[in-house]
Amino acid sequence: MSGFGRGKVILLGEHAVVYGVPALAAGLDRGVIAEARPAAVAALACAPWGTDDPLGADTELGRAFTAVVEAHPRAPLPSLRVEADVALPAGAGLGCSAALGVAVVRALDEAVGHEATDAEVAERSLAWERVFHGNPSGLDNTMAAHGGVACYVRGGRLERLDVRRRLRLVVGDSGEPSSTRAMVESVARQRARDEARFDKTLAAIAALVQNGRLAIEAGDTHALGQLMDLNQHLLSAWMLSTTALEDMIGAARAAGAKGAKLTGAGGGGCMIALVESAEVGARVAGAIAALGFAAFETEVG
Ligand code: PMV
Repeated sequence: MSGFGRGKVILLGEHAVVYGVPALAAGLDRGVIAEARPAAVAALACAPWGTDDPLGADTELGRAFTAVVEAHPRAPLPSLRVEADVALPAGAGLGCSAALGVAVVRALDEAVGHEATDAEVAERSLAWERVFHGNPSGLDNTMAAHGGVACYVRGGRLERLDVRRRLRLVVGDSGEPSSTRAMVESVARQRARDEARFDKTLAAIAALVQNGRLAIEAGDTHALGQLMDLNQHLLSAWMLSTTALEDMIGAARAAGAKGAKLTGAGGGGCMIALVESAEVGARVAGAIAALGFAAFETEVG
């Protein structure tokens, strides 16, 4: 009885998506696998972290688990123990918590024989995300359920893109954990200080996303890379970048990446670099590893 939730990267538009601007995101092949079995005590155990939270536990995982169990369409559910294998770094901008939420929802569905569409799974896992993120746009849980390369608008509207050429990415992990909630709150404070200026940045990001979409549909890697670089400038102006992220981004560009930026909430976590071939990908991953950071290559679309 297992369920899968995938990780994601945001290609363009993180944070702005919280304010209604569309964002471009891609589902990763790696994520979380969860299994649910009948047991005397209903609980959620996450293997790599050694956590074991019974239903009703007053911890973030316990509250999130309780939220999806209690809101299940077949509630009250029988007593189920869910064991999750998490193959993503947490707090790294790759949508780990959403992937876990989606995997748990799917494992519960499997265990009680409830068939749900991807859209329904995404919607139910939003209750999970709220425990961790306070004001989630819904992008992470939607991508965790659907995958592919897509344009997402807050409120659950997802449009799959017709990808002309698969995108080859290198993901570099700063190893610095970051809190999405804290980063979203920090951007909200900047908005409160100067709304007119903030709106200008939102409009600029909306234009990048619109052009990014055209670039993906036309298979124009060069243009997409430039748009990622421009997005990175705007994200740094919101003080979301860090020295480690900047170092990896600089090394990736110097090693031949078409563009590079932080991905997800920032303030730590991961960056992505767009590369045109396996050869450049290996060079970029090597340059990031030479700085002492973990890197992996992936293809999306
Ligand atoms: O860091 P992550 O993977 O949780 O991504 C967060 C994306 C934000 O746009 C910063 C927040 C959101 O809810 O969309």
